[in-house]
Parts: sequence; C-alpha cells; structure tokens
Amino acid sequence: MTRILDGKALAARLRARVAEEVRDLRARTGIVPGLRVLLLGDHPASLAYVRTKEKAAREVGIDARVERLPAETEEARLLARLAELNADPAVHGILVQLPLPRHIDTVRVLSALDPRKDVDGFHPLNAGRLAQLSGAPAEDLLVPCTPRGCLLLLEEALGGLADLRGKRALVLGRSTIVGRPMAALLLAHDATVTIAHSRTRDLAGECRRAEILVAAAGRAELVRGDWLAEQAVVIDVGINRVPSPDGGHRLVGDVAFAEAVGRVAAITPVPGGVGPMTVACLLDNTLRACRAQLARPTLTRSSEPPS
Ligand code: GUN
Repeated sequence: MTRILDGKALAARLRARVAEEVRDLRARTGIVPGLRVLLLGDHPASLAYVRTKEKAAREVGIDARVERLPAETEEARLLARLAELNADPAVHGILVQLPLPRHIDTVRVLSALDPRKDVDGFHPLNAGRLAQLSGAPAEDLLVPCTPRGCLLLLEEALGGLADLRGKRALVLGRSTIVGRPMAALLLAHDATVTIAHSRTRDLAGECRRAEILVAAAGRAELVRGDWLAEQAVVIDVGINRVPSPDGGHRLVGDVAFAEAVGRVAAITPVPGGVGPMTVACLLDNTLRACRAQLARPTLTRSSEPPS
C-alpha cells in the first residue's frame, strides 16, 4: 500500500501554529511581523505565486504586501528599494520573486538583502551556513522554503528524521532554489546524497537505487513507475502544466504518479503535496526572522564572532 502524503493537511497544521505564535508575539510585544514580496514584471505564474503567498501570510496575521515593479526596472532602482526595506524596522522579511528579468544580476540582488530578512534563504551567507550544517538548522538560520517543506514531509513519512541516517537519497535537479539546498539538508541529516541533473548518465538506474527520491527537475512525468524502487519515499516538487483531454490544462509532477502508486511506500501528490508546504514554510520563516531581529536588533558584522 502506498501512503499518499497530504501536504495540504501538514501545511494547514504549520500555518495554524504560525498564526497562534504571531498572535502571541503581538499580544506580548505589539509587534506584527512584516513581509514584502517584490515582483518584477507580470509573468502570470509568478504573479499567481506571489498573490498566494501574500494571502496566506495575511491569514496568519503577517503584514504582507506585494510590491510590483515594471519588468524594465533598472537594477540600481531595485537595489535602492531593497536598501530601504533592509532599513525599515517594520519589515522583517523580504522576498524577491525569481526568476528576475535577464538584465538583472540575480546574485547581486540576493546578496544585497539583509541576511536576517532573507526569508527565502537565498543570500550567500544563509546558503553558506546551510552548506556547513550538520543536524537540524539553528533557530536563526533561514532555510529555503521548498526544501524545508520537503524535509517536513519526509519527517512525516518516516516518523522522524533519524531514519534518514545512511539512506540513499537522490535529488533530481541542481537548482539553487530547490536541488542544492535540498541536498545540503539531507546531508545534514546523514543521508547518502546523490544529485542528478540533465547531464546525468543512466538517470533511471540512479532513481532505482534511491530509497528517498526528491524530484525537482521541472519536467512533466519524467520519472516513470519502473524507475522507482519498491518501498521508496518519493517527494515530487514538480508543478508542470500539461494539456488535458478536455482541451484544458492539468497539473502533473515530475513523477508519473499513477505508475508510482502501488509500488512505492509513500509519495506526494501534485497538486496538494509540496506546493502548500512551500507557502507554509515562508510564513514560518517570516516569523522566525521577526523573532531573531527582535532578539538582536543590530546586524552582527561578519568580522565579529557570534556570541
Ligand atoms: N521562484 C520559484 N520558486 C521560488 C521561491 O521559492 N522563491 C522565490 N523568491 N522565487 C521563486
């Protein structure tokens, strides 16, 4: 029997906890966590994602606002806006929706964020801390939302993260948003990690060896049922729009779900698996960022050892 991992239900529990903690924080300190989401241009999928994030954040009591800028905004103008948000004490979390238009240097923009407000965990300081991690992340480390959501789903599937120790885990995809931070998290929990990508030879063979598979390749139903080890735990990050027989569209993952069910131990559905967890983890990261900034109002210089 394959267990279908209900990301919607797990995300609802996390959102309820965040809502309660936001209420508590407000009652104790009068402070409301603030989140700003910057979107350049009007890419329909990005617009839908940022609206979902804004709505979910507001529902848990976070003061969330989307700021839309024209696609042709100059990099200097974006950096100037980030400097203002970095300096604004009412803003605890900043998210720059990716991908950015081609004329903008993404690494320069992400590096310009105050790392304590980097609720996506994409600033090089946060990415570097994650790369050095062993065990669970410290409370003040902001970990990218999708990989963190995947880890929580694995924890649910395995009944705890201790079970990752020594397991063969395959991460399909090497993006900085999902694949690389996911591999770092699995490694931090002592899994034996392989990262596969578009140049990997014998992808099917790599998949068959995996006890844990996190698929983040962005290709509809790339992973077939007979590529999967029986009793594998499969986390499907893919959200791909494909034509449906009725002339409309439907969403499918990177794994052929119907072929996997009945074969693997557990799998996330698409939709209703990883997607809701990404949003819930963003809310939790915003709350954590707010708490850390209240505890430590000034930024520690990189030359100072942490106390
Ligand atoms: N684009 C796709 N996924 C993400 C994400 O998690 N964060 C940001 N900022 N942009 C994205």
